[in-house]
Amino acid sequence: MSQVFEPNREFSKNARIKNMCEYKELRLQAEEDFEGYWDKLAKEKIDWFEPYDTVLDESNAPFYSWFNGGKLNVTHQCLGRHLKTRKNKAAIIWEGEDGKKRIITYLQLYYRVNRLANLMKNQFNIKKGDRVVLYLPMIPEAAFAMLACAKIGAVHSIVFGGFSAEALRDRVIDADAKLVITADGAFRRGQPYMLKPVVDEALKEGCECCKKVLIVQRNFEDIDYVPGRDYVYNEMIMNESQHCDPEPMDSEDPLFLLYTSGSTGKPKGVQHSSAGYILWAQYTMEHVFDVKENDTFWCTADVGWITGHTYIVYGPLAMGATTIMYEGVPTFPDVGRWWKMIEEHRVNQFYTAPTAIRLLHKLGADEPKKYDLSSLQVLGTVGEPINPDAWMWYYNEIGGGNCSIVDTWWQTETGGHMITPLPGATPIKPGSATFPLPGIMAEIIDEEGNPTPKGEKGFLCITKPWPSMIRNIWGDSERFVKSYFGDCKKDGKPVYFSGDGAMYDDDGYIVITGRTDDVINVSGHRLGTAEIEAVLAHHSNVAEVAVAGKPDDIKGEGIFAYIVLKGEDSIGEEIEMIQELNKLIIKEIGNIAKLDDILFVPGLPKTRSGKIMRRILRSIAKGEAITQDTSTLEDPSIVTTIEDLFKR
Ligand code: PRX
Repeated sequence: MSQVFEPNREFSKNARIKNMCEYKELRLQAEEDFEGYWDKLAKEKIDWFEPYDTVLDESNAPFYSWFNGGKLNVTHQCLGRHLKTRKNKAAIIWEGEDGKKRIITYLQLYYRVNRLANLMKNQFNIKKGDRVVLYLPMIPEAAFAMLACAKIGAVHSIVFGGFSAEALRDRVIDADAKLVITADGAFRRGQPYMLKPVVDEALKEGCECCKKVLIVQRNFEDIDYVPGRDYVYNEMIMNESQHCDPEPMDSEDPLFLLYTSGSTGKPKGVQHSSAGYILWAQYTMEHVFDVKENDTFWCTADVGWITGHTYIVYGPLAMGATTIMYEGVPTFPDVGRWWKMIEEHRVNQFYTAPTAIRLLHKLGADEPKKYDLSSLQVLGTVGEPINPDAWMWYYNEIGGGNCSIVDTWWQTETGGHMITPLPGATPIKPGSATFPLPGIMAEIIDEEGNPTPKGEKGFLCITKPWPSMIRNIWGDSERFVKSYFGDCKKDGKPVYFSGDGAMYDDDGYIVITGRTDDVINVSGHRLGTAEIEAVLAHHSNVAEVAVAGKPDDIKGEGIFAYIVLKGEDSIGEEIEMIQELNKLIIKEIGNIAKLDDILFVPGLPKTRSGKIMRRILRSIAKGEAITQDTSTLEDPSIVTTIEDLFKR
């Protein structure tokens, strides 16, 4: 059993949930009266325009619907309703990589969002239900655009700024988006970089749906403008009124789409609802980070990922908190940048990814000592398993041994935290996300649907719906059912399968063991092996390809590609091929999917029916001994050949 750290007693005294008795009591309430539990929260937290009739409708499972009949507007929940009490409070504190700062109060944010909402309505004819793609850097305008969409009922789909033109194009087409909002460029590692040319490239073909592009001038770079299609935000925004009535939305109206990778095929447009999502975003902000009225909260994610959606924008603003948004990388101008910002802004809750913690630990283990980090109360991590070494450094050097670490397990599909410690209540352990939040019915089960005993790996499932769950895969209901409700069953009923493996330790704490499907988690970013393989297979010299994850000290996982080249003897061309294959990946997906290792092999391990035995390839990439039965392979000797090539 690893060491257990009790919550800081002083912190617990004022925490929303003060001890494990209170936590268990809430869990019990949710178990005994499931709908009553969520009903109470929804009534307490949401400023409804019209009340709902039913809490949960399961009649069309797994297409669950929550709070049917209710009307609300998420932007009203995040801004409008705060004006009475918080109009001059800082809503967003933004820091550019170049040190530039912008502080935007709730009232200012309200006006800016209204102007942009009016601009979209009046100039681009964006209506309720239309899709708008946001391809933006980490600037406040990204938050304005999200909230402006929500204000008028448009559905935003943010595409992470690191994705390539092809990836952007696929997402614009799949969402059938009418408008793209982008920026001329931004700053990263001290250098300006361009975004608008990527949009130009993306819209060159196949994007007939998208007739307009709105460009935020961030760098004031020289860019090409397409007459009649491209418009400059900075000029137009001043002509719009700062008043805009919120569109009354049904609880189940989609709030946004966010594309993520699955184990097969193209990325999935995860569709989230309005009421259920915002309820959980706000509730988890309040309870998992325990943010108080005068606190400053900082989540370092990019708004292009779900963590940025829920914990930079929607969660903090729904609860009326002050949220920090930082444009750049943690290592510019030096590895003390984040710690300096925590000192300067007196940050109280800090939320980041294990990859960043490992990187900053490696590059500057003693750097935090130079800064006053005593304002910190809660430290969060998300996106991938955190190794005990990194956890201990975070706990001792960043938190000074006084802060709870909330290791939050959740996914794009879950909308918000699911399994996590509560900082005032849960005794924490390095490497464990601990227990499910009250109301979240998480179970670890085996292939037959039976609970796994302590110490044994199983499939992490959620056996009852929850308000912020994925509602559908955009345009592909069949894939939605198949991807999440296909395999795992409990009492004969399909349950949500996360794709993750997990186990209970000796004390019943949940330990996430990683993906069980063909998804790789690189620096907390999900990438489907099938997506990467499809790109590599396009190369004219590639006969066959299989991709697997391999352990990486900083990124958690790296990408390992096994390539079979066409032609008898392609040795000698391999160096060039490595460069070409990576160029292809960067063009089709983006830098985040760059290959870490390529092994040229004469063949892949296949069954007699031609199926690639991926488990063998995963084991080799991890440097593990092969324990699987290889007798069913068409050519068992290929395994030893690949192992020998790997060891060279
Ligand atoms: O494998 C789990 C891992 O990240 C996956 C979800 O990725 P994504 O949808 O991109 O969302 C990331 C941010 C919520 C999960 O299926 N994961 C997430 N949090 C943790 C984690 N693995 C271990 N520990 C965590 N705390």
